[in-house]
Amino acid sequence: MKASYNRLIENNKEWAAKKLDLDPDYFSDSAKGQQPEFLWVGCSDSRVPANEITNTEPGEIFVHRNIANMVVHTDLNFMSVLQYAVEVLKVKHIIVCGHYGCGGVNAAMGSLNNGLVNKWLRNIKEVYAKYEAELDAITDMQMRSNRLVELNVFEQVHNLAKTSIVQKAWASRSLQVHGWVYGLADGRIKDLGCMVDEIEDLEPIFRFEFHKEKLDA
Ligand code: CO
Repeated sequence: MKASYNRLIENNKEWAAKKLDLDPDYFSDSAKGQQPEFLWVGCSDSRVPANEITNTEPGEIFVHRNIANMVVHTDLNFMSVLQYAVEVLKVKHIIVCGHYGCGGVNAAMGSLNNGLVNKWLRNIKEVYAKYEAELDAITDMQMRSNRLVELNVFEQVHNLAKTSIVQKAWASRSLQVHGWVYGLADGRIKDLGCMVDEIEDLEPIFRFEFHKEKLDA
């Protein structure tokens, strides 16, 4: 019996052939470079693939995924993705997309010691602590989890705004940061309506000053 992973290679062969059927230049064009308009910050959950749920093609979305779609300013991996997306690819929109039923969020709501991942989930616990009164008042645990998913997305949108990378872009061009939540149960994306696109959207303590003549420095 063939190992299950062989199916992926076979699927790839069929997929590549199908693409070529539709457009003989598909891969030669694709190899020339990428100009995605969007940076996607999503959860690693296998049920929330950025391209599939937005019905987009390779080349359209620059993607970063981690447990519970977090923006952590000491995360060298994410910050490098952000810098490249904003400063080199010059994406116009950054989308933080969480999802209801997020295992990372649910784990953060509990008190189990999960080892190393505690350190990651700690960032979500901080979000819980910030909105403790509102969240504790929701007695239905699934509804409480859903609300924390939304609040977590809201906080990550603001964490993006707090970065010098996003603020530096704002000093010279338009860049929108959106907060969305995907529903596993219905396949629909909900826009939380918490878009930020200017320095005034941020508490003054987090604002950096960028002088036009120093922008290239
Ligand atoms: Co998740």
